[in-house]
Amino acid sequence: MEIQHWKKLLIPYEQAVEELKVKFNSIAHEYRRLDQYSPIEFVTGRVKKISSILEKGKKKDIDLEQIEEKVEDIAGIRIMCQFVEDIDKVVMLVRERDGKDLKIVRERDYVAQTKPSGYRSYHIIIRYPVQTAFGEKEILAELQIRTLAMNFWATIEHSLRYKYKHNMPDSIKQRLIVAAEAAFQLDREMSKIRDEIMEAQEMFQIKSNVVADILKNIQNLYFIGNIKEVGDIQKRFMDLWEEGDLIKLKQFNEQLDILAELYQAQTLS
Ligand code: GTP
Ligand code: MG
Repeated sequence: MEIQHWKKLLIPYEQAVEELKVKFNSIAHEYRRLDQYSPIEFVTGRVKKISSILEKGKKKDIDLEQIEEKVEDIAGIRIMCQFVEDIDKVVMLVRERDGKDLKIVRERDYVAQTKPSGYRSYHIIIRYPVQTAFGEKEILAELQIRTLAMNFWATIEHSLRYKYKHNMPDSIKQRLIVAAEAAFQLDREMSKIRDEIMEAQEMFQIKSNVVADILKNIQNLYFIGNIKEVGDIQKRFMDLWEEGDLIKLKQFNEQLDILAELYQAQTLS
């Protein structure tokens, strides 16, 4: 095939990769704009090199005319997550779009079913329509959804695989399996921390709400109350703030509520 033909063939794939990167990055952006946790950490994408496409075609005995149907990863998108739980969330997000801007062809769960090499990731093959200067074209693309730990392992394993071609020494294979187990344990530890992080963030939110309430109360008391007394209240608040006990802060706020009501009643009578 001539280079011009390759170019024409690859253009829709290049466009698809760009579009899909934008779409998945937008999801992450949306969550962050809303101060919410994003299940997507970052997204990468690439179009397979012509040499790699040919190599794969040869290895799998695929005719040139069949390349676009049989090589499913000419367009490849990687979606990186912080935690294993986020992978499920991203898979759901993709499934929700099935029949809308993409079509799911196949899913492969190498997270639940680790490959013998130690490889873990969630794969989704999709059909994706691209609008080109020559009309619409539907192409195949591979989405790989994985954690940062899975990505770290796969990247290193891939470069070793490349270095040794297809003759990776058994000792290296063995060490990669051990490393894969370590990556798996790391993901498990991070999942435990995930709950704690969310708990901490929730606590932080509650605390900041209480403090905002207290400050509002103090300001009100300034207007309607005795300045000396408000000075004492402010000092008491500073001490409690230093101490950082949420329950005490809440109780203090309740006392301020009552005090404010008392003053209110006095000024009204
Ligand atoms: P290819 O592996 O791509 O020839 O096709 P396949 O039909 O076997 O699909 P599979 O789901 O096994 O792999 C698709 C892609 O996943 C590969 O192109 C790699 O990017 C990735 N992958 C699969 N297995 C491994 C592995 O053992 N190590 C690494 N680093 N990546 C892998
Ligand atoms: Mg494979």
